[in-house]
Amino acid sequence: MRKSLGTKGVFTAPQPVLLVGTYDENGVANLMNVAWGGQCSEKHVALNLGHERQTLENMRRTKTFTVMFATEETMVQADYVGIVSGLKVHDKVAKSGLTPMRAEMVNAPAIEQLPVTLECRLSEERETPTGEVRVVGEVVNISADESVLNEKGRVDFDKMHLICFDEATLKYRRIGEIVGNAFVEGNKIRKA
Ligand SMILES: Cc1cc2nc3c(=O)[nH]c(=O)nc-3n(C[C@H](O)[C@H](O)[C@H](O)COP(=O)(O)O)c2cc1C
Repeated sequence: MRKSLGTKGVFTAPQPVLLVGTYDENGVANLMNVAWGGQCSEKHVALNLGHERQTLENMRRTKTFTVMFATEETMVQADYVGIVSGLKVHDKVAKSGLTPMRAEMVNAPAIEQLPVTLECRLSEERETPTGEVRVVGEVVNISADESVLNEKGRVDFDKMHLICFDEATLKYRRIGEIVGNAFVEGNKIRKA
């Protein structure tokens, strides 16, 4: 028996824990936690941001940002940058204990403790009907720490210890094990 739950607490799962990096007007690195975001085409990511975000001010000025992925090891810091705004706390990245470093190809910070960075150019911004701001970034480079690469030089999720945001219970969860092969498993039905 199914129950209709209405639209309170809408979620898609697993929801990412994205960390978006920008520089303020003094070159101070800022980081925010974003659940409402993800890949929206081969080389683009879309984010939904509230208006009152240091991140938004920063990306409007620099036209660039970085997208990184929270890990089990950086969960506390990831949550911290999601509950404290750079508009109120100066240099929250330093306070979090994370170490900013320059991204290779854009004017935005990477973070030493976050092993993979999508370096993005702001390509679109528009107001949503619900009063938030939808930004789209073109990924112009991906940089990754060697420690999370496999023997073929590709990012290995097992080595990243990724977490996701459980919007239904407001918990952070581990991303799990491999259970099958994409674009392959469906052949068991197609070829039956
Ligand atoms: C788990 C989690 C998910 C969040 N998702 C979003 C989001 O998708 N969009 C958004 O605008 N704010 C989101 N926030 C809130 C921002 O991270 C928060 O307002 C932050 O302080 C903004 O930082 P800034 O003002 O320094 O940019 C989220 C916070 C948490 C803890």
